[in-house]
Amino acid sequence: MAKPYLHGHHASVLRSHAWRTVENSCPYLIPYLDNPKLKILDVGCGPGTISVDFAARVPEGFVLGIDPSADVIEKARKHAEEKGITNVQFEIGDIFNWKNIAGVEEGGFDIVHAHQVLQHLQDPLGALNEMKRLTKPGGIIAIRDVDYSAMTWYPEVPGLREWLNLYIAVAKGLNCDPNIGKRLHAVAMKAGFDRTEIETSGAVWVFSTPEERAWWCGLWADRTLHSNFKNSCIDNGFATEDDLAKIADTWRELEKREDGWFSVMNGQVVCHVRLQP
Ligand SMILES: C[S@@+](CC[C@H](N)C(=O)[O-])C[C@H]1O[C@@H](n2cnc3c(N)ncnc32)[C@H](O)[C@@H]1O
Repeated sequence: MAKPYLHGHHASVLRSHAWRTVENSCPYLIPYLDNPKLKILDVGCGPGTISVDFAARVPEGFVLGIDPSADVIEKARKHAEEKGITNVQFEIGDIFNWKNIAGVEEGGFDIVHAHQVLQHLQDPLGALNEMKRLTKPGGIIAIRDVDYSAMTWYPEVPGLREWLNLYIAVAKGLNCDPNIGKRLHAVAMKAGFDRTEIETSGAVWVFSTPEERAWWCGLWADRTLHSNFKNSCIDNGFATEDDLAKIADTWRELEKREDGWFSVMNGQVVCHVRLQP
């Protein structure tokens, strides 16, 4: 059985997910959204802000967002309602168990998308294989994930390096790859895509203005103290409450630094599913 999602869905986690739009989280897909009739599956949709944005961009098409968390699916439905977007539907569901999800069928989607999901799975190749099965021949799979090992910041505030090492250790302890962003194309090749069928690119989130630092550093300070990440650290003996309190202070320190800068490197792939198998 799949292990629980590392971060859980504490308010400090949702604060970062609910900020996401097509423009700030999957601009590499915009050139593929010029057909208003597209059918899109958003795997691991979280609170659904990207899915709703997709739906607004394909007014004659349809978007289905799936996520195993009932709480987050409820939030996604509410978000669509608030935005007045009706061509989107959200269902509780697991990519490894899609046969139980209403509206999900083999070869049923022009685009199958996953943003920051594969890094949290014990079997990212298995997930990509399922995504491939759900894509129409001639359609695309679009995946974007972070590479934690390529995160960088300025200045070198004491304690942040420990946070990064801790995060990577916790994720690897769950048999997940927090650095998968740099090898999404390699996973796609293992799933049977020829290298010529895979487009690769990267994109960076930068948090540097006072508002950006307050938001990013603040949410990580809160995640460190309150989300499932905290429980995973303590329960698995990676850190004590005291260590985590120091890490949260470190995030607040970077937030206060007028010259502070934090960047997040994301790997992106577009895999073209063959017309003929
Ligand atoms: C980092 S969040 C990304 C949410 C959303 N894609 C976004 O970018 O805002 C990862 C999401 O993957 C979901 N997830 C975890 N395991 C999954 C699985 N087996 N199938 C589908 N989604 C899964 C989690 O519940 C979580 O909401």
